[in-house]
Amino acid sequence: MKFPYSEKVLDHFKNPRNVGKIENPDGKGLEGSPACGDMVAVYLNVNSETLVIEDIKFESYGCASNIATASIITEMAKGKTLEEAKNISWKQATEELGGLPTVKAHCSVLAVEGLRAAIRDYEEKHGLVSEKETTTE
Ligand code: FES
Ligand code: FES
Repeated sequence: MKFPYSEKVLDHFKNPRNVGKIENPDGKGLEGSPACGDMVAVYLNVNSETLVIEDIKFESYGCASNIATASIITEMAKGKTLEEAKNISWKQATEELGGLPTVKAHCSVLAVEGLRAAIRDYEEKHGLVSEKETTTE
């Protein structure tokens, strides 16, 4: 059997970027997966003028794919506006990681949902909730 994880996945799994918690974050998302019972939390600090994500951290109670995806999406989201960060999809994250086993797609979806939940939390607290919901792709 071919080893299913790319070098980049292993790197982000072993040395995850932006791991931890932000005390009193501007936005926080907690998502769980009914499939495996794992959870991911995402914390954001956002510039209220520019709506740029200035700091982002995550805690994962999930598997290697979840940790690697959460790690890469924190890198992808940092410095982006909330609108831009909302459009980061699990497909983009997976491509950025050099691929993930298909059976693990939902674990990367879970990480993306955590980020989106944190953005939604910020928007709700700041009266920014838009009419159209982003689709999970
Ligand atoms: Fe649960 Fe992947 S098996 S997050
Ligand atoms: Fe739980 Fe993958 S098995 S998210």
